[in-house]
Amino acid sequence: MLRTLLPGQTVSRDQRSTPPGGRLQRLGHGALIALLVALIPLAVWATTFEQAKSAIDEAKQVREEAIAAGVSASPTDEMIEQAESVLPSRQYTRARQYAEWARRQDELAMELLARQEAREAAGEVAKAEVGTYREPLDVLQGLIDRTSSDYLTQSDQNLMMMADSPAIWVAMDGEPLFHEPRGPNNVSLEECDFGKGPGVLEGAYVELPRYFEDTGKVMDLETRLVHCMVTLQGFGPDDPEVKQRHGNGSDHMKLQAYIASQSSGYAWNPPLDHPLEQAMRDAGEVMFFRRAGKADFSCNTCHGDTGKRIRASVLPNKNFPEEWSKAISWPAFRVGHDQVRSSQHRVRGCYWQMRQAGSIAGSDGSIALLSFWTDAARGAPAILPDMKR
Ligand code: HEC
Repeated sequence: MLRTLLPGQTVSRDQRSTPPGGRLQRLGHGALIALLVALIPLAVWATTFEQAKSAIDEAKQVREEAIAAGVSASPTDEMIEQAESVLPSRQYTRARQYAEWARRQDELAMELLARQEAREAAGEVAKAEVGTYREPLDVLQGLIDRTSSDYLTQSDQNLMMMADSPAIWVAMDGEPLFHEPRGPNNVSLEECDFGKGPGVLEGAYVELPRYFEDTGKVMDLETRLVHCMVTLQGFGPDDPEVKQRHGNGSDHMKLQAYIASQSSGYAWNPPLDHPLEQAMRDAGEVMFFRRAGKADFSCNTCHGDTGKRIRASVLPNKNFPEEWSKAISWPAFRVGHDQVRSSQHRVRGCYWQMRQAGSIAGSDGSIALLSFWTDAARGAPAILPDMKR
C-alpha cells in the first residue's frame, strides 16, 4: 500500500491503518502466516529413518566420549534406548528428538565437568572474578557468551526488552524511598544493616540470606526489610508499607528492586560461616529434593537437569550456576504478569505449581529454600533486576 504514495507524500496514522483494500491485504497476510505455521510442523514431522538413525548414532558416539571424560550417572543411556525403542513403530521424529536430547545432555555434562575441574584447579569458586556493578543486560550477555545454554538464550525478545525493563523504573522509585526519613519514627533506611553495615547496599543482596546477630535469625532481603521498617522506622506490621509485598506500586517491590540492583554483576556469595546459615541451607536442600503432593514433584524433578522443557519454556538447571544465576535473579519484571516480582513471590509460585502447601512469606521454610538456591548459584554473577517471560 505504500507504493501507492507519491514520493514526498505522507500519511497520517489513521490513513495508514485503513488503506483501500487494506482489510483484504490483511486477510492475505493472515492466510500466508497460517499456511507457514501449518508448514512448520510438516517440515518437522518429515523425519526419515536415516535421519533418526544418524541422530542415534551421534548420541551414542557422544555418550562414549562423555564416559571417557568421566561423566558418570547420566540418564542418557535410557534416552538412547527410548529413541531406539520407537524406531520400529516408525516414530522417527520422536526417536530423533530423544537422541538429540541425549546428545545435548552428554555434551553439557562434559562441559559442566570441565568447568567444575577448572574451578577446582583455580582454588575456590571464582569469587573475585565479579565484584563490581554491571548492567543486568551486560551480565546476561556475559553468561551467554561463556555458555551454550538454551535456557539463557531462549527469548530474543526478552534480551531486546531488557534495556528498557520496567523493573529498572521500579528500582529507581525505590531510591528516594530508601533514603527519605519515613514512618512514625521519621528515620531513613540508611540505618538498616543488610549485612555489610548500616546503609551499605553494594554487593549486600548477593550475600543474603545471612545470619543477623540483632535478631538471632537467618534473614532474606524481604524479612530484613520488614524488620527495619518495623523496628527502625516504626511502621506497624499491618501498615500497607509493610504488608503490601507485591505489585509495581508497592513500597516493597520498589525498595527490594532498588536494594537488589546495587548487586548487579556481583557473584552470589551467601555466607555459610554461622551454624544457622549452614542449617538453613541444608534444610533448603532437603526441601528442594523432597517429593510430595498429588503430582509427586520435587523442585529437582524440573530443575535437576539441563534442557528440560515445559511447552516452549526451557527450564533452568540448578546444577549449572550460569543458568541458575538467572533463575534466582529476582526481583525481576515478569512480562506475563506485567509486574515486578520478588524471590518470595517466586517461591510461592513454585509451590503452587507443584500443587503443594502454600509457602508463607518470611517463614523459615521460605528462607531455607532461598539459602539453598542462592548457594547453588554461588560464583555466578547476579542479573539485577532481571526480566522474565
Ligand atoms: C513441574 C515442573 C516444575 C517444578 C516441580 C518446579 N518448577 Fe520451578 N519452574 C518451572 C517452570 C515451567 C518455570 C518457568 C517460569 C514459569 O512459567 O513459571 C519455573 C521457574 C522457576 C524459577 C525462575 C526461573 C526463571 O526463568 O526465572 C525458579 C527459581 C524456580 N522455578 C525454582 C523452583 C523451586 C525452588 C521449585 C520447588 C519448590 C520449583 N521451581 C519447582 C517448572 C517447575
